[in-house]
Parts: sequence; structure tokens; C-alpha cells
Amino acid sequence: MTAPGTTPGPEGSARATAALRALETVHAGLTAFAGWWPSDTTTDGRYRPRAAAAGQPIGSNTGWTTSFWSGQLWLAWQLTGDPRFRDAGLHQVADFAQRLEAAVDVDMHDLGFLYSLGCVLPWRLTGTEPGRAAGLAAADHLMARVLPSAGIVQAWGDASDPTQRGRTIIDSLMNMPLLYWASEQTGDPRYAQAAHRHTGQLRDHIVRSDGTTFHTFHWDPVTGEPLHGTTQQGLADDSCWARGQAWGIYGFALAYRHTGDQTFLAASARCADAFVDRLPEDHVPYWDLAFGTGSDQPRDSSAGAIAVGGLLELAASSGPGAAPEARRRAADALLDALVQDCAAPPGVAGGPLLAHGVYDMRSGTGVDEGNLWGDYFYLEALTRQALPEWVSPW
Ligand code: GLY
Repeated sequence: MTAPGTTPGPEGSARATAALRALETVHAGLTAFAGWWPSDTTTDGRYRPRAAAAGQPIGSNTGWTTSFWSGQLWLAWQLTGDPRFRDAGLHQVADFAQRLEAAVDVDMHDLGFLYSLGCVLPWRLTGTEPGRAAGLAAADHLMARVLPSAGIVQAWGDASDPTQRGRTIIDSLMNMPLLYWASEQTGDPRYAQAAHRHTGQLRDHIVRSDGTTFHTFHWDPVTGEPLHGTTQQGLADDSCWARGQAWGIYGFALAYRHTGDQTFLAASARCADAFVDRLPEDHVPYWDLAFGTGSDQPRDSSAGAIAVGGLLELAASSGPGAAPEARRRAADALLDALVQDCAAPPGVAGGPLLAHGVYDMRSGTGVDEGNLWGDYFYLEALTRQALPEWVSPW
């Protein structure tokens, strides 16, 4: 396996070593996951075939996280040029296209995560037309979730579900790049307009005055009036779920890149300040930012990996609040802490890249385990450091 580029100095060399170790694990996954999709999180340190769901057998492409495995394959291809990673990623495009055609578990906003990495990225990197077509179909499907009264994209549940109508979540920001891309590709501004309006609603209501965020927020589905914030995966409605805050940093920074709207840059910067100010001394976030140095609560390494991506995205921006040097320092400290304290043993078939994540503490799901999105964003952060010319899939 070819070594990726390095940043000078001991930290740069530790990150390059970490990238090589992570690549060994992705390489082992080529064999370990042949013929089935891995579960959202590890169990006792190993990914298993995804549980049967949505009328599909065990190991099928369901849920919101499968594309993070595809994304790792594409990062591995970009880092090494090894065609085995590219071929495996291309093979998955047909599976994602089929999933949408058969409408298997697609009533969710996470179509952005799924199709940006599972189909649009392969199209960007190889020109595969089925990837482009599936990406555009996914964007149309996502548009059906827009609630015109409130100008939000409904996060969870069927669009006719009264318990979810009028509700969205901070994670949704990461699904908006699919809509910006669809406008670029088709020349139809409606996708980008929907994304811009949705992001503006989150800027105004999901971000609190101190820069922390609600996990979810509710609008009156008839009048569109903003109602109140709640949590699903955080400690409390008024606490700050660490991963949600990380989605906020990254999602608003991406919105700025796609729109040039400085208020989104400012929202990302406020989220970043609040996140970094609440990190413990060793920099690895607890699962909720209510917990600090000395707590015995579990960490969520995946929140840290996502935040690195957001901070580096901010560092690459220019405008008030971007503060590139401070963002880059914060990102480096966070990434180095992940490399030192959370990197999983390399080359383990079915093992994670990053240990010590939490999926959902409240339901006891994936606590102190690896997870697919943590692995993806960890490898993305290492790739950003190794390949300065790397182009974001978001
Ligand atoms: N987007 C779901 C999660 O972060 O758990």
C-alpha cells in the first residue's frame, strides 16, 4: 500500500502513520464485508451483517449509514490509487440505485448522506452515469420532504406522519449538499432554494444564543411557526448533544461554501466556539457536552471526527469568524487526540477504524463501540491532512 503524503513534523508523521493503519483496516473490510453491508456500529469491537429490516434480509442496504462504508472505499482509493477500492465502490452504486428504485427504507432525510457518498461521489471520481442518475433521483425524493409552511425538510418518518411533520434535526444540515449539487447539475434552482431556506431556519432556531444547539426542533406544520427544541439522543432537551453540535459546525460551514451566505459562516463559527470551549482537557468529546474533564461518561469519538471536518472546512473559508489559524489548531489538536486515544488496532477484519464512539446513549445502542460514520469522518480528516488537493464530496 502506498503511503499518503505527510505534513512535516512529528504530528504530521503520526497522522500519516494513522492513515496507513486505517487503510489496512479498510483493506481488510474488502474481504470481511464482501456480499453484505455492515451494521451501524460494532458489537464487541466487530461489525456484523446489518440486521434484517424494511422487509429486507440480513446484510441488506438499509438504514442511514451504509454509504459511510462506500465513502471509506473512495477515500482509500484516493489515498492509494489501488483499483480494488474503486471497483468495490463502483459495485455499490448499482445497489444504491436499486434501493431507491424499489423504495427500500428511503423515507428519511438521510438520503443526502446515502447518495452523496454512495452515488454522487463515484460519479464525480469516475464519471459513472448510474451514480449521477441515482443522485438526482435521491434529490427529488428529498424534495418531497419539504414542508412549505415552515420551509424545513422533515427529518424522520413518512412525510404524512403527524408526529414527525414539522420536525427536523441538526444532522439534516449534512444532507443539504445533495440539493445544492442537484441544482448545479440540472440548472433548476428549486433544490438549492429549499436547502437555503431550511438552513436559515436552523440557523435562526436550532442554534441557541450561547452557540450550543438543540438536537431537534419543531415547527407548527400548518402555520410554520417555530415551536420548541427537544432532544432524541442528547442528555436533555436543554443540553447539547456532542455529535449534533459537530454536525452543526460542519453543516453550516458547507452551507456557506455552497451559498456564500455569511450568516451560515457565522453560525458555523458559533457552533465551533461552543464545541471547542466545552471539550475536556484531553480533547476527546464526551457524548454530551454537559460532561467535562474527569467525568466517567462515555466519549463519542465520532463527534470529534466530524468536528475536525467542520473545523477544517471553516479554516478553508474566508470571512468574519472563519479564523483559519485558530480553527486549524483546534482541528489538529482534536485529530491528534483521536489518533492517540481512539484509533483502533489496524488491519482487523470487520474491525472499526476508530474506537470509543456512542450511537445512542439513551437507548444503550453502540456505546463505547466503533461506528461507520466515525470511521468515515476519521479517514476523511486524515485524508484532508494527507492530500492538500483533496476535493470534498459534500
Ligand atoms: N444522524 C444520526 C446520528 O448522528 O446519530
